[in-house]
Amino acid sequence: MDVDALAAIVGADGVSTADADLRHYGDDWAHLAPPAPAAIVLPRSVDQVSALVRWAEATGTALVPSGGRTGLSGGALAARGEVVLSLERMRRILAVDAGEGTITVEAGVTTAAVQQAAHAHGLHYPVDFGSRGSSHIGGNIATNAGGIHVLRHGMTRDQVLGLRAVTGGGRVLDCNRGLLKNNTGYDFRHLFAGSEGTLGIIVEATLRLRPPPPPQQVALFALPALQALMPVFAAARDTLALGAFEFLTEPALQHVLARGGRRPFAAAAACYVLAEFDADEPAALRLFEALLARGLVADGVLASSQEQAAELWRLRESITESLAPRRPYKNDIAVRVARVPEFLARAGALFAAEYPDFEVIWFGHIGDGNLHVSVLPPVGMPHPDFVAACARVTARLADLLGEFGGTISAEHGVGLLKKPYLGCSREPAEIELMRGLKRVFDPAGIFNPGKIFD
Ligand code: FAD
Ligand code: MLT
Ligand code: ZN
Repeated sequence: MDVDALAAIVGADGVSTADADLRHYGDDWAHLAPPAPAAIVLPRSVDQVSALVRWAEATGTALVPSGGRTGLSGGALAARGEVVLSLERMRRILAVDAGEGTITVEAGVTTAAVQQAAHAHGLHYPVDFGSRGSSHIGGNIATNAGGIHVLRHGMTRDQVLGLRAVTGGGRVLDCNRGLLKNNTGYDFRHLFAGSEGTLGIIVEATLRLRPPPPPQQVALFALPALQALMPVFAAARDTLALGAFEFLTEPALQHVLARGGRRPFAAAAACYVLAEFDADEPAALRLFEALLARGLVADGVLASSQEQAAELWRLRESITESLAPRRPYKNDIAVRVARVPEFLARAGALFAAEYPDFEVIWFGHIGDGNLHVSVLPPVGMPHPDFVAACARVTARLADLLGEFGGTISAEHGVGLLKKPYLGCSREPAEIELMRGLKRVFDPAGIFNPGKIFD
């Protein structure tokens, strides 16, 4: 690796081949394989990113863009001698326009920093999830991240008014210029959203900020059965101004409580629903009474303070971290909301039949039709054997999703983990067109090769 050539672009302190850095910057949260990049580069400017792209094309070197490395599909894994291009040093907040309701940031700004900057200006950036403190806006756009407020505000792509990206030839594209309205041909910002680093490097973004939501309330309901989930959702959706509607099963709660926290109800339940909504205590109490009378809930609590609301959210948001030490196999699937009940029954039967000895943890953004199903390896099972067993079941799950018109990746992206199953969610003609677009934007094939599709 010509480290001197890289240092000539980003400075000697902007390049590293130290083992610790190769390991740290060369992987993401999925830990699918040992990271093995050739070098790490940390540009400070768009010009440096552009020069790095031209260098990579001239030398035929693959570039893996790296944000906060909280991705769960292996999209930021560099395991084949690539150069990792980290946006970590491009983390300036370039502008906040409170009147217009926009913020312009460099790609390396964290999700939490955008949320805080919005709040400081009396506004709200609604995209939110447990990795907010580490994930970058560039990575959020590249994975089109979802999180807990999709129900009301959509995915990350729905917040992007403009983005600048460095694509083939080192060209800097200024997509949509931050305009609220602009109908002048193909909208490239929507191509970069969800592109997982395969079309170019997102370097800046202009995001829309919202007026702060009215005071919110949080309720947690205990349900006697998973089949009660969607009737409870329908009733909540019809009576409350929902901002979030999440669920977790009893095993998920047990893993969370094993690390601390208080059991919310005396008795265990089949599953739990966490609903956040515009404060309306009378309506929430009426809803609870009606659900109790219908036998759809067994217990419930309405948070009486911000602290209690945060404690209830922690039960949901710390599932990922509580499972991480067991290196779960993660499913991030979705079907249309109307088909969740039937899909839950079919997928539940599939997992029970195919995973009789494995622990299967269900949770997720059920209001979006999005289920997270983390499968834990039996103690003592070699990890490669476990992953191979899960891959076989995922192939069956992919068939079921195909039958339901669902998706193998609702919000985490395809990366490497879901690449073998792309065909269950996308038609062959679509995949061919995606390959064609990649050839247009990345003729040298240097942007994150091997991710999403070969
Ligand atoms: P990375 O992991 O660094 O990269 C992700 C992908 O984007 C890779 O393919 C990478 O090459 C590419 N990339 C990164 N930066 C750029 C750039 N500037 N230009 C082009 N490509 C780039 N995700 C959800 O959607 N919803 C959730 O609820 C959610 N909860 C999570 C909770 C926890 C505890 C954790 C650890 C993760 C969670 N995630 C969730 C997954 C993850 O946080 C998101 O996918 C996030 O958007 C990744 O951002 P990142 O900066 O860490 O990206
Ligand atoms: C979540 O909603 O907690 C995340 O998507 C992470 C996960 O699936 O583990
Ligand atoms: Zn999620």
